[in-house]
Amino acid sequence: MTAVSEYSKLTGNSPKQILLERKQIEARIAELGAEITRDYQDKKPVLIGVLNGCFIFIADLVRRMQLDMEIDFVKLSSYGNEQESSGKIKIHKDINTNIHGRHVLVVEDIVDTGLSVGFLHEKLSVLEPASLKFVTLLKKDKAKINFKIDYIGFEIPDRFVVGYGLDHGQLLRNLPDIYTMDRK
Ligand code: IMP
Repeated sequence: MTAVSEYSKLTGNSPKQILLERKQIEARIAELGAEITRDYQDKKPVLIGVLNGCFIFIADLVRRMQLDMEIDFVKLSSYGNEQESSGKIKIHKDINTNIHGRHVLVVEDIVDTGLSVGFLHEKLSVLEPASLKFVTLLKKDKAKINFKIDYIGFEIPDRFVVGYGLDHGQLLRNLPDIYTMDRK
């Protein structure tokens, strides 16, 4: 049984429409990888992936980057199983790398309200990296942030999306394409 039909059976819901097909995602990540490779030549950046949603994006992105890098992860939560942000960020797993004086690139799956990247910007700046940049596969147009997201895969409308690492209630991360869902 496919992930979609299993999910529909469990919840009575189903993802609605394809928003981004795997080929589009792959092509855009190749462009992002090439751009980041140019910008970080000889810098040996530390990539910090934001779990869980980034796991497929970061795996594809790093294979499009032709340079030495280290990779670490943080795990945050702001959502629980709801489709709306709780407004509170909790750290479940912190980084293990000393980023003082390092070139840091934070890798997000999606910037929704902007709370998570805002939280990380503040928290990581204090550790005095040589530079701090952000890459996100998706950015919703409603996001409120007072700093630059340096690399953006796709700007998308304010819809709840699933697939390619993004979940609903921890399911559907394994869909290879990105779908919109109806809000409850
Ligand atoms: P923000 O802090 O509101 O920007 O939300 C960031 C996090 O919320 C992301 O890293 C995702 O884990 C989750 N999230 C936000 N929007 C969506 C969505 O449309 N689908 C699935 N997860 C989402």
